[in-house]
Amino acid sequence: MADTDYGVQVNALDPPVDWVRRFGGLVPAGGEILDVACGRGRHGRFFHELGHPVVMLDRDITKVADMASFDRVEIVARDLEAGRPWPLAGRRFAGVIVVNYLHRPILPDIVASVAEGGVLIYETFAVGQETLGRPSNPDYLLHREELLIRVRPELRVVAFEDMEETLPVPAFKQRVVAVRDSLA
Ligand SMILES: C[S@@+](CC[C@H](N)C(=O)[O-])C[C@H]1O[C@@H](n2cnc3c(N)ncnc32)[C@H](O)[C@@H]1O
Repeated sequence: MADTDYGVQVNALDPPVDWVRRFGGLVPAGGEILDVACGRGRHGRFFHELGHPVVMLDRDITKVADMASFDRVEIVARDLEAGRPWPLAGRRFAGVIVVNYLHRPILPDIVASVAEGGVLIYETFAVGQETLGRPSNPDYLLHREELLIRVRPELRVVAFEDMEETLPVPAFKQRVVAVRDSLA
């Protein structure tokens, strides 16, 4: 999936999306963050500035190359659609952030990456978006309540939205925040 397939132009100076800003405080203080398909890294940068170590994962890491010299930053270059294994198998994160990216085969890996006490914050486009523009490929559009259904067996859903919105731009979006409760 190319950056432009989404019709979303993002640069490092763009603020985090409201969903991440609103629920970012649920991530345990100082916990490690995984920014999946990080792009220019606006969400990883947001958490890094808050004191979290971050792992920036994308097939194109040129847009986060400047972060390589930062402390508490790991940059992982991987084509997530080239088949298994998931590049971070066995690792668990206090916060897993996915924005404007969907590759259904790795959804179980994304959910499994949430540590006990950790949080998944996920937002991307949903069906209906094809009537407005890009992305229009159904592979990149969530079905009704799909994130809810996908995360619920393992995680507890704190917040969920599945809606057509008009601001800041018309879009069909789906969003979930879900936590892996501690066993203790
Ligand atoms: C629309 S951008 C979103 C970037 C970021 N999450 C944000 O919201 O600012 C989609 C990102 O997915 C990455 N991507 C697309 N296909 C990929 C793949 N097969 N493997 C890894 N990353 C991929 C692109 O390189 C791009 O950075």
